[in-house]
Amino acid sequence: MLMKNIGFAVALAAALFLPIAYIGITPAYAQEAASPQSKTIENLMTAYSGEQNAHARYLAFARKASEEGYEAVAGLFRTVARAEQVQYEHHAGVMKKLGVAPNSVIEAPVVKSTRENLESAFSAETYEKDVMYPAFLEQAKKDNVEDAVDAFKNAAAATGSHVRLYAMMVNSLTLSKGLVKDYYVCPLCGNVIDAITSSVCPVCFTETKKFIRIK
Ligand SMILES: [Fe+2]
Repeated sequence: MLMKNIGFAVALAAALFLPIAYIGITPAYAQEAASPQSKTIENLMTAYSGEQNAHARYLAFARKASEEGYEAVAGLFRTVARAEQVQYEHHAGVMKKLGVAPNSVIEAPVVKSTRENLESAFSAETYEKDVMYPAFLEQAKKDNVEDAVDAFKNAAAATGSHVRLYAMMVNSLTLSKGLVKDYYVCPLCGNVIDAITSSVCPVCFTETKKFIRIK
């Protein structure tokens, strides 16, 4: 009888305390996996880091273009660098709202000839526009993170302008030597234009009079 009671007491204690102990020792990876936003937060961090590195790379490419006498190309690189800053600051803001501190490692840019730098920038922006941002956008929709949906949608569309302008410059590089050209960047989405032909940004509807001209 005594043994039976002891056995019952042990079983009761186990039934009462084991679930409590289990909840208390849930490992960190299990908690992360449970977060419905974890994948989108990871994507925001990837985009933030990618845009910060692109910003540093395009400023280095601009210096090289100036050295080689391509002032119009240097102006385009400086303007797109500013656009990347608009985008990484926006991604950082979304992460902060989600309670996550933005973090990235800036790698030393690999600088080649201006033609190679333009081709490399064109490829990087094309990847962001066609592959990275569309995938991140779909995930953000699944995770139901509205601010990230807006950020990725605008970044993809604005990055399209970077692709177009880099492609145009690759095709007219020789002709552009010695010329100076104006470019303007949208302070809200990072869209870049080479002429102000409408009153609002075609991506985010910010007034074009607020666009920044980069010198
Ligand atoms: Fe815009």
